[in-house]
Amino acid sequence: MLNPEVTGHLAEWERETRSSIIFRSANGAVAEDINGKMYLDMTSCSGASPLGSNDTVFNARLARAMEQETDILPSPVSLQRLRLVGKISKMFPDTPRVFFLRTGSCATEAAVRIARYRTGRPVLLTAGFHGWHDLFQQPPWSANPPARDQHIQDFRYDLDLLEQQLVMNRGRVAGIFFTPEPSIFPAALLHEISRLAKLHGALLIVDEVLCGLRYASGGYCQKHGVKADLITLAKGIAQGIGLSAVVGTDEAMTGADTAYLGHTYLRENRAFVAGNLTQEIFEEAGIVARLAESGSALKRLFQTAFERSKIPARVLGSDSMFDIVLPSEKHGKAFAQKCLQHGIYVGYPATYMSNASMNEAFFEALEPALDLALADYCRSEDMTTPFTDASMVEYCMEAFRTTEKACLSNKHYWA
Ligand SMILES: Cc1ncc(COP(=O)(O)O)c(C=O)c1O
Repeated sequence: MLNPEVTGHLAEWERETRSSIIFRSANGAVAEDINGKMYLDMTSCSGASPLGSNDTVFNARLARAMEQETDILPSPVSLQRLRLVGKISKMFPDTPRVFFLRTGSCATEAAVRIARYRTGRPVLLTAGFHGWHDLFQQPPWSANPPARDQHIQDFRYDLDLLEQQLVMNRGRVAGIFFTPEPSIFPAALLHEISRLAKLHGALLIVDEVLCGLRYASGGYCQKHGVKADLITLAKGIAQGIGLSAVVGTDEAMTGADTAYLGHTYLRENRAFVAGNLTQEIFEEAGIVARLAESGSALKRLFQTAFERSKIPARVLGSDSMFDIVLPSEKHGKAFAQKCLQHGIYVGYPATYMSNASMNEAFFEALEPALDLALADYCRSEDMTTPFTDASMVEYCMEAFRTTEKACLSNKHYWA
């Protein structure tokens, strides 16, 4: 048995919730820690596992396929890779060229490099989270990075700031890099950003690492009729096995032809086998529709539980990815902590992500656990604090690093 004291450093990974949960196993959306405590996972393993953990169909097909397939090959150019290129191109026909990488951060950094090589320009204007690489751990995502990158400027979802940055960097902007956050921002915002990108000869890069394979079939841009030059994808490509991609128009992807983007582990053929099987299951079993279905039930369950307990809260977003906002950060952290105590695995701020394995038994277990968590939350927190615009501003600034204005000017959407 592992001693949690000895492995306490793992808590570093759970800093936000100050939890020291050490997981042993998971099935579907239910995970077990080393003490046998069960957790209902609201994160779909950070979005990596749309089918749920240990999916029996996927695991059986992968095992069967790997009896015939090779684990690793001398070159990253393989039949399985080409097959997956075909599938992803078909799903994203406006951006048919596909380049694979391993993590979401690999894909976002590669997209920046491709845009720079394509345009010969250095500056990136960005909004939203794009991962852990230095390029994106700049203000406001990192308060005081030891290596400050002047070529990365964050407009924090604020169109005024973006326009100022475009003017200040006229002729030097390679791309505008935007992460859709459908809980807070309407598609009209991305349409406007797309217009500005065209006006200034900058590429439009959309970070769909989280939403691309769950928000809608073919992703966010396609659903809303936005023509991006480059899109990054990762979560859900290969059912939890590390595989990410940059997809782009033929023109934008010429930037990839001159930039160096090589890496060792694209030779891992198993990841591409997993990617092909995952995408086959997505199509056969209508997984995107099922994510929306289970997500809609999940949203409704939280919404009615808050209403029943007369707790001020907002449940915002699309069915398959949504946010829960409480009157203050203090309330939100307390809510997440009570949830964890009662076996509901979530953080604050956090995107709630459904998975296809969330069945009746899951919801039957969630409802009473949530009622207990909410009863504890009501006892520990001040329930007279109302939910106001300031609650939203605080949440948006923390979760998405927006400006106050960017949050409030989209009130017509989130309210
Ligand atoms: C929108 C977005 N971009 C990039 C990343 C980084 O992906 P990874 O953690 O796989 O490096 C994430 C991860 O959560 C993400 O949600």
